[in-house]
Amino acid sequence: MKHVIGVDLGTSSVKVLLVDQTGRVRAEASEDYPLIHLKAGYSEQNPEDWVQKTVLALKKLVASSGVSPDDIEGISFSGQMHGLVLLDENRNVIRNAILWNDVRTTAQCRQITEALGERLLAVTRNPALEGFTLPKILWVKQHEPENYARASVFLLPKDYLRYRLTGQIHMEYSDAAGTLLLEVGAKRWSREVCEKLGVDIGLCPPLVESHAQVGTLLPKIARETGLSPNTKVFAGGADNACGAIGSGILREGEGMCSIGTSGVILSYENSLEADYKGKVHFFNHGKENAFYSMGVTLAAGYSLSWFRQTFAADQRFEDMVAGAAEVKPGADGLLFTPYLVGERTPHADANIRASFIGMDGAHTKKHFVRAVMEGITFSLQESIEIFRQAGKTVDTIISIGGGAKSPLWLQMQADIFNAEVVQLENEQGPGMGAAMLAAYGCGWFASLEECADAFIKRASTYSPNPENVKRYEELFQVYKSVYAQTKPLNDRLVPFRPA
Ligand code: XUL
Repeated sequence: MKHVIGVDLGTSSVKVLLVDQTGRVRAEASEDYPLIHLKAGYSEQNPEDWVQKTVLALKKLVASSGVSPDDIEGISFSGQMHGLVLLDENRNVIRNAILWNDVRTTAQCRQITEALGERLLAVTRNPALEGFTLPKILWVKQHEPENYARASVFLLPKDYLRYRLTGQIHMEYSDAAGTLLLEVGAKRWSREVCEKLGVDIGLCPPLVESHAQVGTLLPKIARETGLSPNTKVFAGGADNACGAIGSGILREGEGMCSIGTSGVILSYENSLEADYKGKVHFFNHGKENAFYSMGVTLAAGYSLSWFRQTFAADQRFEDMVAGAAEVKPGADGLLFTPYLVGERTPHADANIRASFIGMDGAHTKKHFVRAVMEGITFSLQESIEIFRQAGKTVDTIISIGGGAKSPLWLQMQADIFNAEVVQLENEQGPGMGAAMLAAYGCGWFASLEECADAFIKRASTYSPNPENVKRYEELFQVYKSVYAQTKPLNDRLVPFRPA
């Protein structure tokens, strides 16, 4: 039987999956790499780490699978979005990649907004946010002019990885949409945005569809990984687009909640028609000529892993989360807002920071864990509220990522979202979406939908519990007021943060 590989280049690790023609995962491997925080608000990675760790993970995958390399027909990629990788004319990396959760670019966002006014939303369908790529390009131009002068092309993380595996430079639409340089509707780089901001349009790479074959593996990479040099390489997609494909979000009316490092509420869009006035992101999907809208919580899973590392490092993640089940919904009056690295939706604010409100002498670690999980979920509920207020029906949500691994958290999502929350059988998140793009690209299926019907199966559904829904509705009103109340305090704390 033939196989494909899905590579998910995440923020903390790379995960690789070997998937057969029935959608069964035959082997998996993953490797971690570090984040580099040079200053408060900075978040960078060394692109070389992505390449080395992916090659290692692929080597382990091939060796452990027992599958002949000749039966691995294709490979494709999902990647953390927005990260800026600058290459010089010899295709060498100029500086560390500046990542999606780096919030140093508030001044550049203001500059973009002033330069483009209403045209920004009309052309790119998105407002200027610190995480997006264009503000990062402008930051380098202003703060490191010598690096900008050397740049001959920019890439996003998984596009750089794919370049190193194939020798071919491309970007695909779903990730290009997150740069703020793409005309999302017309699917071409925006000359207008480039000219108004003084960015050379020649820095933008050629664009392709997510399922397009862009080459085969370089012989050196084939040797190092044990894969065949004939393995077909397909462009892939942004991690949220691939997460959506991997959970079958390919038709109008379908929505997803993904809790990884960041958290996302995503809704499929068949056309450019929906207008959320920039309150949620609007990007090209990995499915040709389709789109999705989404709200983003910057520190979702990250809030929980930060809490464990800081206060419960001796506990296994699963045990820590299980303890939270002993506490009632509402964590006995303890509330958490997950603004550890600033926020995107609904408060695009790089200065805001997290809070625990209502700490009581009777609260234990379990209360704090429950409050963190609830706070992350409330934050995602703010995105659902935007969709509902815009007239969208949100009654069923496919849950993926860390939030889909715990029955407690799945029920919490159903209760806070007041919607049916679906868990998938053998959920693999964006890596499965990447594998599906390769499967479709190889011609195994006539459409991505056909591939999803074959590969993706729903396991269980969590229904909202009316009593908890009511309790959470009341708490959500309190949660929503914490942002406005703590904003002025956080603004005054900015000078005390490490420079
Ligand atoms: C989306 C975003 C994050 C990253 C995480 O806009 O910034 O979800 O894609 O990898």
